[in-house]
Amino acid sequence: LYTAQVDSLISLMTLEEKVGQLNLYAGSWEFTGPVPKDINNQKKFENIKSGKVGAMLNVITADGTREAQKLAVEHSRLGIPLLFGYDVIHGYKTMMPIPIGQAASWDAEVARSGAQIAAKEASASGINWTFAPMMDIARDARWGRMMESAGEDPFLASYMSKAWIEGYQGNDMSDEATIAACAKHFAAYGFAEAGRDYNTVDISMQTLYNMVLPPFKAASEAGVATFMNSFNEIGGVPANGSELLQRQLLKGAWKYQNGFVVSDWGSIGEMITHGYAADTLEAGYKALTAGSDMDMEAHVYENSIEELVADGKISEDILNDAVRRILTVKYQLGLFDDPYLYCDADREKTDLLTKENLQVAREAAKKSIVLLKNENNLLPLSKEGQSIAIIGSLASDKDVPLGSWRAQAVENSAVSLLEGVKNAVTDQSNVQFASGYTLTKGRRQFIYELEFVSGDRSGFSKAIALAKKADVVVLAMGEDCWQTGEGRSQTDIGLKGDQMELMNELLKANKKIVVTLMNGRSLAIPKLDEKIPAILEVWHLGSEAGNAIADVLFGDYNPSGKLPVSFPRNVGQCPIYYNHKNGGRPATNPHDAGMVFWSHYTDSPNSPLYPFGYGLSYTTFEYGDLSLSSSEMNPDGTITASINVKNTGKMIGQETVQLYIRDYVGSVTRPVKELKGFENITLNPGEEREVLFTINNETLSYYRADLSFGSEPGRFAVMIGGDSQKTLTTDFRLVD
Ligand code: IFM
Repeated sequence: LYTAQVDSLISLMTLEEKVGQLNLYAGSWEFTGPVPKDINNQKKFENIKSGKVGAMLNVITADGTREAQKLAVEHSRLGIPLLFGYDVIHGYKTMMPIPIGQAASWDAEVARSGAQIAAKEASASGINWTFAPMMDIARDARWGRMMESAGEDPFLASYMSKAWIEGYQGNDMSDEATIAACAKHFAAYGFAEAGRDYNTVDISMQTLYNMVLPPFKAASEAGVATFMNSFNEIGGVPANGSELLQRQLLKGAWKYQNGFVVSDWGSIGEMITHGYAADTLEAGYKALTAGSDMDMEAHVYENSIEELVADGKISEDILNDAVRRILTVKYQLGLFDDPYLYCDADREKTDLLTKENLQVAREAAKKSIVLLKNENNLLPLSKEGQSIAIIGSLASDKDVPLGSWRAQAVENSAVSLLEGVKNAVTDQSNVQFASGYTLTKGRRQFIYELEFVSGDRSGFSKAIALAKKADVVVLAMGEDCWQTGEGRSQTDIGLKGDQMELMNELLKANKKIVVTLMNGRSLAIPKLDEKIPAILEVWHLGSEAGNAIADVLFGDYNPSGKLPVSFPRNVGQCPIYYNHKNGGRPATNPHDAGMVFWSHYTDSPNSPLYPFGYGLSYTTFEYGDLSLSSSEMNPDGTITASINVKNTGKMIGQETVQLYIRDYVGSVTRPVKELKGFENITLNPGEEREVLFTINNETLSYYRADLSFGSEPGRFAVMIGGDSQKTLTTDFRLVD
């Protein structure tokens, strides 16, 4: 791609200019204003002008990026345009549901259309590169970045990530409304010990290859423009210094040739803190030779690479390869044809937060909602003739639904739950509100620690009085949006502050309570499950949150979401995930009942509260017999699994029919089940459909004991059902 142009440009570049392309700076001053006064920014400013910067992050607006671009293009010797990167994670101004919510839709169209809108808006504001999608497998609810993931399963994460990439990049990255995507964090960032962000990762090669890497490989195959490596070390090697990940796998076995790898913020310098490099020179050497092409804000490359190349410690070929990759992305984005392609102040006025964009956000939001419980069909509610008490400060909150990592979302711009319900009902006087509890106080922002409110019962009496006289209570519970995101790990994954106490008081006043849970991680909510008749998982749903929740509450949309993560019963179960191994002592032998010598907790079941893939509907689905086209398969053949699914309820509804496989015996032990396919089907009441899945050798293949990819003969279970626990099972043999 663009080989001739890139090679010819590189042949004109000095060593200094080449190193310059590897620098990614944060811009923390107004480019439309005067020259920055502080010394660091002044240096950045001058470096852009002299061609010593390849990309900027956090510089936004059409005018701001235009001014910054001018510095590079009009002042530097070769006029090489800058990339402008930004964390456009689930929207730029129009907010889609947080990624974990989108993943609950199990719907590529939700991911694709949301990313498309995000790209359209961001690109109108000068951005041409997003640091998304994040495809880290998230098994541990303590980890705050679960919100930004597609959950615990590599198949689903690959599926969603591919769609996010397609949405951001479109078919042609030089289109002004598309931007370059970034597969992050390469790799295993989600496996931080004890769920603590940035902590050490120590996992087996099989876990790395079979669980962590598949979405990244899928992203590479989908043509993602860039990768970002991760903050963590794996087995003693910081990811940005990993030759295995970057040189052998990504740029070697996977043949990733046209894109580049950026490091995470300051992380090349952190090699020294990790104890992996003695100084800047060694950090620069180790990161670049391992395949980290661009340095985000560590300022290590600018202080080491020239010297390392001049001294012959790093070959100029390695440097040239990094530069080639970065320039190739710039060519793909069309920046050499028009460096100001993305700086369109007119489009910035018309393309952001439009009605159409909000409509897409609403569609995505309603499809992301998961019905966790619905005793006696308490839901859906009626839009008329029912008095509804809306309780909980989260219900009137117009900011929390925007979620963490919200780019340029306008503060307090989401449709609140209260507003959504009021918009939907025929008579607004039937809807009464009391905030009940206060969740947090003080500064609530991306960079600050939160302060939770506890022991404040001042709002209880009004809430209880409303609950007493209402036909039904809708109680908003959950997490502040800043409880999740980067640097937001928690040891307590229950509901904070006074929420549970209020819930218990409300239950004395009215048993008909629907809880809407707003959160960015899987929560431990056993008491809720025990006491509350109806629970909707609504995540942080974005700009149209309240309208989408109302769509589901009143049955205008029949909930179809399925959990992309297991919900634990308690934090002690973390990390909990459905695709675990069997172990040698998986369940108590009936003869040994009451004895302790099996893998369990003495104070909690092993199973999650809600399993991966779980989600109810206002209708019911019945699964018929599961059958296979044959009881044997050879590696170049296929087997078809078929099952009939019938809508046995009274409403049209969508079901996600899930296929799981188990390989009973392997050269290394295999998970008890793994998602290998799914199909979303919509059925009218009484309608029945046959769902078919084709199983081939690839479905059965994995990275084996010697890390080669392939299948192994033997017995395989085929499980199909509506979640990872409730499945029908049969089996077949793979023969030599
Ligand atoms: O893109 C992010 C990354 O995910 C975490 N550290 C900061 C980067 C840039 O904001």
